[in-house]
Amino acid sequence: MSQSPRKLLVTSALPYANGPIHIGHLVEYLQTDIWVRFQKLTGQDCLYICASDAHGTPIMLRARQENIDPEILVENFRHEHQKDFADFHIAFDNYHSTHSEENRELVEDIFAKLDSKNLIERRTIEQAYDESAGMFLPDRFLKGTCPKCGARDQYGDNCEACGATYSTSELVDPRSILSDTAPVLRESEHLFFRLGEFEPMLRDWIQGDAVDDSVGRKLQEWFDAGLQDWDISRDAPYFGFRIPGTDNKYFYVWLDAPVGYMASFKNLCQRRDDLLFDDYFGADSEAELYHFIGKDIVYFHTLFWPAVLEGAGYRKPTQVFAHGFLTVNGQKMSKSRGTFVSARCYLNNLNAECLRYYYAVKLSAGIEDIDLNLEDFVARVNSDLVGKLVNIASRCAGFIDKGFEGQLADTLERPELYDEFVAAGDVIAKRYNDRNYSHAVREIMALADLANQYIDERKPWVLAKEGKTTEVQATCTQGLNLFRVLMTYLTPVLPEMAAKVAEFLQVETRHWDDRRTPLLGCRIGKFAPLLQRIDPKQVDNMIAQSLEGS
Ligand code: MSP
Ligand code: ZN
Repeated sequence: MSQSPRKLLVTSALPYANGPIHIGHLVEYLQTDIWVRFQKLTGQDCLYICASDAHGTPIMLRARQENIDPEILVENFRHEHQKDFADFHIAFDNYHSTHSEENRELVEDIFAKLDSKNLIERRTIEQAYDESAGMFLPDRFLKGTCPKCGARDQYGDNCEACGATYSTSELVDPRSILSDTAPVLRESEHLFFRLGEFEPMLRDWIQGDAVDDSVGRKLQEWFDAGLQDWDISRDAPYFGFRIPGTDNKYFYVWLDAPVGYMASFKNLCQRRDDLLFDDYFGADSEAELYHFIGKDIVYFHTLFWPAVLEGAGYRKPTQVFAHGFLTVNGQKMSKSRGTFVSARCYLNNLNAECLRYYYAVKLSAGIEDIDLNLEDFVARVNSDLVGKLVNIASRCAGFIDKGFEGQLADTLERPELYDEFVAAGDVIAKRYNDRNYSHAVREIMALADLANQYIDERKPWVLAKEGKTTEVQATCTQGLNLFRVLMTYLTPVLPEMAAKVAEFLQVETRHWDDRRTPLLGCRIGKFAPLLQRIDPKQVDNMIAQSLEGS
């Protein structure tokens, strides 16, 4: 039964191009990559799009500090990020930048459409201005005393001591973090997007299955509080796209950032004649659009973004998947504890697939935070991947290689056990599709236990001593076939190991359904070690290096 494949366009959030990728970011990119690889393996027509988020005040200031053009800063980080992602086997179909011509055109066009529909309002507001730095101050660039509890040195919009949120104008004794001077209030005209107009549409969209329940509840709170108009402009100096018709106003980074998803896809369309932009983003598109994001940026993706798309005459996202934040050993990532580990520092000490596996063990569809417990990480990788999974293959491979010149038996010794492994694939597929990777992995490892049990019972090493060669070949053929089914299930998580196994078994697994056909009567290659045990010292070294680097 062959259905025509669904068209899926999948994104991860666009990382800011002003700092290295760290293991916290990787939760998201690995979660998405596993999902995309799973969709591709089950035959869906799935594309994975990302880009650098290039704009905003922090990027402008960092470039100034380093005395380079922001364009150069952003391009340098884009290349560094792409290398990090590639080394974690995160396979984007396209990786672009929000500071691109495609994005500029799209943003200008979207803005013009919103403006022509009277969805943009111009209003003069008062804002904190740093006279010595010569610029307006974003909330995060103001510090002062909390108006509620009196704690000093608190941010412009919320207090870490008592948890209060307030507006910057309420802050007592405010200071600019750029110059440590007191800001003055200055007037400026800003452009606002009338978000409130979209409330009925947004309520409808959320009633469907666009977001999970936990996110839906959060949105309900926001609706109850009332949707505010959204300030989409910033005054110069700013690194971004200038708003047409003004000479000193720029689009706020969060307006052009999600448009960057479209721009990256448009850039891909220009290079591939089989892809049409409108098939994916047109108002009546039948393609599915999925955004993977962290819980901190839900507001942007579930309120502003669908409203902007609707207002400008585009389709809305099919679903927005939010995940929680990474903690390390139960605590927030911390530079002083050495747990703020960059992707590169991890790779200098450990194998990428170990982290892929561990995050899969931990990830479910919810927005709970996920914990990387470093001891548990070593224990799980060593016991599950090396002790259970790879063990199946290494126990069988030698006998087939030495005793039978790599030739597998013509039939399965225990076809019903094989069928049980194949049947489990339907449930495991559902787990992946539901982003319930922790359950998928649990089920796969339970099967690995069964495979090991089977080999333990048959004891091919005893059979070999007794000269029962036919039985040795039969048992090891069975074992390797069970192993191959397990490897098929783990291909989305462990693509590099899967490629090594393809070479060993001399057969490429291209489709989830390939598992149904056992490998019989054929010749396989030599077994090469698939994964080394982690030595806890590798983790210690990583933490030590991370401390040095911070
Ligand atoms: N540039 C914006 C996204 C724009 S999308 C149109 C941004 N960038 S970010 O670099 O700060 O974060 C990128 C993604 O990584 C976000 O989804 C964020 O939630 C996620 N994470 C950043 N730190 C994280 C953890 N410590 N743990 C898990 N995810 C984290 O936001
Ligand atoms: Zn306070």
